[in-house]
Amino acid sequence: MKDFAGKIAVITGGGTGMGRELARQLVAEGCNVAMCDVSEAAMAETRRLCEVEKLPQGLRVTTHVADVSIEDHLKRFRDELAEQQKTDRIHLLFNNAGIGGGGSLFTNTREQWERTFNICWGGVYLGVRTFLPMLVAADEAHIVNTASVNGFWASIGMNQAHTAYSSAKFAVKGFTEALINDLRLHAPHVKCSVVMPGHIGTSIVSNSRKIQTGSETDSLTPNEILATRQRLKGMGIDTAPMSDDDIQKIALDRAKNFLEQAPTMAAAAAKIILDGVKAERWRILVGDDAHKLDERVRQTPDKAYTPEFYKSFTEEVGWRLG
Ligand SMILES: NC(=O)c1ccc[n+]([C@@H]2O[C@H](COP(=O)([O-])OP(=O)(O)OC[C@H]3O[C@@H](n4cnc5c(N)ncnc54)[C@H](O)[C@@H]3O)[C@@H](O)[C@H]2O)c1
Repeated sequence: MKDFAGKIAVITGGGTGMGRELARQLVAEGCNVAMCDVSEAAMAETRRLCEVEKLPQGLRVTTHVADVSIEDHLKRFRDELAEQQKTDRIHLLFNNAGIGGGGSLFTNTREQWERTFNICWGGVYLGVRTFLPMLVAADEAHIVNTASVNGFWASIGMNQAHTAYSSAKFAVKGFTEALINDLRLHAPHVKCSVVMPGHIGTSIVSNSRKIQTGSETDSLTPNEILATRQRLKGMGIDTAPMSDDDIQKIALDRAKNFLEQAPTMAAAAAKIILDGVKAERWRILVGDDAHKLDERVRQTPDKAYTPEFYKSFTEEVGWRLG
């Protein structure tokens, strides 16, 4: 697909981060956008930002509250957008919604683990299932599934368990790669890409904990305070003299640093993704860190989960994820 003007794009998780920037850039190119998110307020802000530049005549930006891990929500989203966008077809599907957390089989509950897995994997799978007929009905279409570097490297550092997110992202990558041929055989006018971002400056850390805990506040629960103490201990930090307020502050700083100290910001990431779609690249790595990690894992797969690998890689790319 060489240009997006006059097309219709569906974006999941359009409320913040890369989803918001995809919406803004698509609208700027004259593409209609239908987005879903669990946060109505966040989508209202995305819509406002899209409308700051005067929308071309007749361009539609619609927002729909839906949890991508629940198939009935996605079906309702599809039916609403068909009515509001007055269409029976779409050209672009960005399965972008995702959260982190719930990473340990030992310290997290099964519910937390499955929440992350069901959003990051289930949301992509159900998104494709739900929208495939509308994509096939278009004369050309493209599915863009967001995995992560955690789709080829199942770690976020030596001090944190990361099983739910990594399994989900590996699944997204495998699914999308296999989809290439399924589409080639059965719907050759529909293409697909898997997106693998490195560290991108977004509010995913604070958004994820809010979605995991079902709370709008930034205050950590007693269990989260305990988990943060354990993580810091794993990093060799003595938390005994620290009050719970100190721990709370460290957690807030971590979320802020994740957003502000990233090597690639969300708007730059969205541009890389859209350029990748236009170039019909099936694998879209986002950020120099993602490219370097991809090379290193291929060069020395046996060492990928050793402390030396992590140290040398993070020193090279300047990751400070904590
Ligand atoms: N930020 C990074 O460093 C990074 C790196 C690799 C991959 N990713 C992936 O990129 C995608 C976008 O993440 P981001 O960094 O922009 O995060 P973000 O938190 O800024 O945006 C994600 C959006 O998805 C929404 N969302 C979460 N769960 C949802 C659900 N069940 N149903 C509908 N909407 C839901 C959130 O409310 C939020 O608006 C995610 O899939 C994430 O896993 C992010």
